[in-house]
Amino acid sequence: MPTAQTPSAGRKAAAKKAAATRAKDAIALLKADHRAVEKLFAKYEEAKENDTRKQAICMQICGELKVHMRIEEEIFYPASREFVDDQEIVNEAEVEHASAKDLMAQLEAMSPADEMYDAKVKVLMEMIEHHVEEEEEEYFPQAKKNGMDTKTVGEQMAARKAELTAKMGGPAKH
Ligand SMILES: [Fe+2]
Ligand SMILES: [Fe+2]
Repeated sequence: MPTAQTPSAGRKAAAKKAAATRAKDAIALLKADHRAVEKLFAKYEEAKENDTRKQAICMQICGELKVHMRIEEEIFYPASREFVDDQEIVNEAEVEHASAKDLMAQLEAMSPADEMYDAKVKVLMEMIEHHVEEEEEEYFPQAKKNGMDTKTVGEQMAARKAELTAKMGGPAKH
């Protein structure tokens, strides 16, 4: 008796399942988040005088950053600390997160019509750019070089990210 699924369809389904469950590299996951947020900041700049659009994009940036910072603080930073030669790199990253969160809280309580709104978004963008550069140029390469298991940590982070994103009302659109 032939089965409903042809061997070829079966192989395709298996490949799809493997891709979905494939171990995610922690650093690749974090870098992908960084790129997504950079795109959103560029979109904000393009929105110019459209306050409704600016606020929507700003809220999207804050949502993405909060999830990203949580998975770094809960999982990546503690798991990578022992693999980083210069502990100040991790300490500074944590302080930078706190400053960014403070600015995001101010933005969330503000109207885009406020004359300080654009300035705060711009400073947030510059803070994040600086932070991302330090993570990608110093922090991540040190952790990798010293043998951090980025696959296992990546899987934990991907699961936590899915959980936090679902809590916030589904995956964010880019
Ligand atoms: Fe970070
Ligand atoms: Fe990051």
